[in-house]
Order: sequence, then structure tokens, then C-alpha cells
Amino acid sequence: MGGPNETRAKFPSMEEGTQEDWKIISGHFMPFAGKVADRVLDHLRLLDGDFGGFPIDRLQHSLQTATRAHRDGRDDDYVVMALLHDIGDTLCTYNHPDVAAAILKPFVSDKLHWITEKHGIFQGYYFFHHLGQDRDMRENFRGHEHFEDCAEFCEKYDQSAFDANYDSAPLEFFEPMVRKVMERPINSIYVKE
Ligand SMILES: [Fe+2]
Ligand SMILES: [Fe+2]
Repeated sequence: MGGPNETRAKFPSMEEGTQEDWKIISGHFMPFAGKVADRVLDHLRLLDGDFGGFPIDRLQHSLQTATRAHRDGRDDDYVVMALLHDIGDTLCTYNHPDVAAAILKPFVSDKLHWITEKHGIFQGYYFFHHLGQDRDMRENFRGHEHFEDCAEFCEKYDQSAFDANYDSAPLEFFEPMVRKVMERPINSIYVKE
């Protein structure tokens, strides 16, 4: 954030920027980037109480998806992916998987990124036919190296995570995992190797 007295760059346009300006900005970047997990967790909490007609609200669905994955022995990266997979419901109602995929992209494997990005289509196998849509839309990806992994995520953890009687772990349980996974990017244009 930074108060009114913090040191700031002085350029009115970037093309007038100096190395000194960028030294100041760089000094702010790492502390800010270091809090990305907290901002993500804050945003995830927006799903609390958001039912959308489902048996449980979107935060509980997220917790249940993550809890099921964790209890099935999945590693922290996978569990965090499971926790965040629907975080985009609020801002990207028409393409929610893209948000979680973008948030996770710097921190997880290509496989987990692909699962996140495609889970909306794969999840459709369980309900598109009730809405007059093609439940087999996922078949467009048959043969892709991560097809079975995405199908498995939806089958075992996502489509099954609407049970109002399931004892999900609370968000606090997952917070250290989120911080750990998002601590250091594997790939980002803003961070040198
Ligand atoms: Fe979803
Ligand atoms: Fe979901």
C-alpha cells in the first residue's frame, strides 16, 4: 500500500523513467508480491455465503474440494489448486476457470494449470445435459496428455464436493499451504531465473 510519505518514482510517463525510479519501484515489488497469498485468500473469502442455488455455498464447496483432495493424499500444490479452482466465480461469471488458472500459473506445473483451466468443461460432464448442452464437450480434449488427470479431478473432488454433511477442514487449515505454494514463482516475466 504505502502512505503519503513513502518514497516514490517521479516520472509522469514511463519513457521518462530513470534507473533511480525503478530502484524505488523494485524495492516495493517484493514486499507486495510476498503478500499475494493473503490477497488471494481474502478474495476466496468473498465466496462465503454465495450459494447460487447450490446445496452449499461456494466457499464450502472450495473447502470440500480441497479437503477431499488432501485426504486422498494429494500434495500441497494439488490441494491449493483444488481450493482455488472456483475463485473466479465472482469476477468472471462466464469463464471462471480462467481466473484460478491465471492466479496459479506462475506457481504450479503445466499439468495443474491445465486441470484448472479446463475443469469447467470437464465438470460439464456431470450437468451440461440437464441444461440442454453437450455433456461430452470434454471429448474435444480426448488424447491430451492431461485429459485423464482433469477428468479425475472433477470426478473425485469437484463434482462430489456438494455434500452438506461433509466435514471439510476450515480455511485456516489450508492457509499455510497457499502461502507456501505462492511463496516463489516458477515462472514469471517479472522475476529473473
Ligand atoms: Fe468450477
Ligand atoms: Fe467446483
